[in-house]
Amino acid sequence: KGDPRLQAISNAITVVPHFPKQGIMFQDITTLLLDHKAFKHTVDIFVERYKDMDISVVAGVEARGFMFGPAIALAIGAKFVPLRKPKKLPGEVIAEAYELEYGSDCLEMHVGAVEAGERAIVIDDLVATGGTLSAAIRLLERVGARVVECGCVIGLREVKGQRRLNGKPLYILVEPR
Ligand code: PRP
Repeated sequence: KGDPRLQAISNAITVVPHFPKQGIMFQDITTLLLDHKAFKHTVDIFVERYKDMDISVVAGVEARGFMFGPAIALAIGAKFVPLRKPKKLPGEVIAEAYELEYGSDCLEMHVGAVEAGERAIVIDDLVATGGTLSAAIRLLERVGARVVECGCVIGLREVKGQRRLNGKPLYILVEPR
């Protein structure tokens, strides 16, 4: 991967040690959003990858998938579907739970947002355990969509390039700083 844009993207991410708790090296993408060039590079790389893949659905994971997904959706001519934390969506939803380090959480999607046979990608800022993205994949597959790939800005080294989630390819731009 010799794309010089990747270094600019990595440089624009801020690491905040011990946030939100002791031992966590928080990857803060708000500084990437402040850097117009690096933010544009991020969106452009995803757009170049997905524009000719016949994708009709970009599903974004709350909250930080909402910061990248809509720009990608607009540029590739797809709809944006928010996958939200519980009790945020007003309509009929389907839900998928996933495990966290302590306890569990859940993602919900509006029924009717995605139709059977649609080709979808899932976008988030970061993949760690992959639990969140796996729940997103299950939501889309339950309604008969085909999940072509999951795209993340940041992913752990051992995940990068190789790991698959629920059998789906995972595309990662940079490693944690
Ligand atoms: C973070 C991140 C991903 C998820 C990745 O979100 O933005 O969505 O964790 O972790 P995983 O691969 O181990 O599942 P968080 O749960 O902090 O939610 P938030 O964006 O709503 O704060």
